[in-house]
Amino acid sequence: MAEQGTGQHGNDCTHEDKQQECQDKEGEGIHIACDDEEEFEDTSDPEELKKLYDDWSKNYEQDVGKMNYNAPRKVAEALAKIVTDKDADILDIGCCTGLVGQELYKVGYRNIDGIDISDECIKIAMAKNVYRKIVNEIIDPEKQMSFQSCSYDVVMLVGGGMFLDIKNLKEWLRLTKKDGFTIIGVMQSEYQNEKYAVPQTIEEYIDQGLATRVSKEIIPDYITGKPGVVEYLRPVIK
Ligand SMILES: C[S@@+](CC[C@H](N)C(=O)[O-])C[C@H]1O[C@@H](n2cnc3c(N)ncnc32)[C@H](O)[C@@H]1O
Repeated sequence: MAEQGTGQHGNDCTHEDKQQECQDKEGEGIHIACDDEEEFEDTSDPEELKKLYDDWSKNYEQDVGKMNYNAPRKVAEALAKIVTDKDADILDIGCCTGLVGQELYKVGYRNIDGIDISDECIKIAMAKNVYRKIVNEIIDPEKQMSFQSCSYDVVMLVGGGMFLDIKNLKEWLRLTKKDGFTIIGVMQSEYQNEKYAVPQTIEEYIDQGLATRVSKEIIPDYITGKPGVVEYLRPVIK
């Protein structure tokens, strides 16, 4: 586990023909992967994940910008209507280069922490000066994260299925304060994809009395022209 500063890295994702090919192939997802799509989607190996995102870090914002990736802004603006205390402690899961933190900062939040596996992403995110700290740690359903229970008002994950492993929901709820929010924002196509089992898992948690659903919101332009689903959950702490 480590906290990070600045730096960058690169890959060849910016070739337009390759990007178009990836976008055409993918259609719905947020990622414009340059290499083999299946490899990107399925790997959970920490070293592969780290390399994948280290390599993508330099072009990540340019790549998602081309897809009009509005999710960080939309989710931050929606959160600001629900959590009016700008001193709320927020954990941005899979913070990457800090797009979510940047939008949270714009709407007034100041106590924003992040977690990510990629040093190169963390360096870019920290250089934005919007995070209090970012921890380099693997998010793994088999492991308890280093954070203490009930330490955040908001634990949020914004992005896509490629890094959303709903099996980690138990951990995200554990880190959330009793009256806080565990927020999951994901493309609607991925939300509905049985492979990710997002709504199914959430319903199981609710049925088992481990979580309540505060609300569920459809965001029309999560990526321009493509909707997203945002779940606002709360842990049940007895
Ligand atoms: C799709 S990207 C960025 C999502 C970001 N929230 C956004 O909206 O721009 C996913 C990020 O999660 C990180 N990540 C993926 N799997 C991870 C894991 N198992 N543990 C820790 N970080 C992970 C990657 O390094 C990457 O920066």
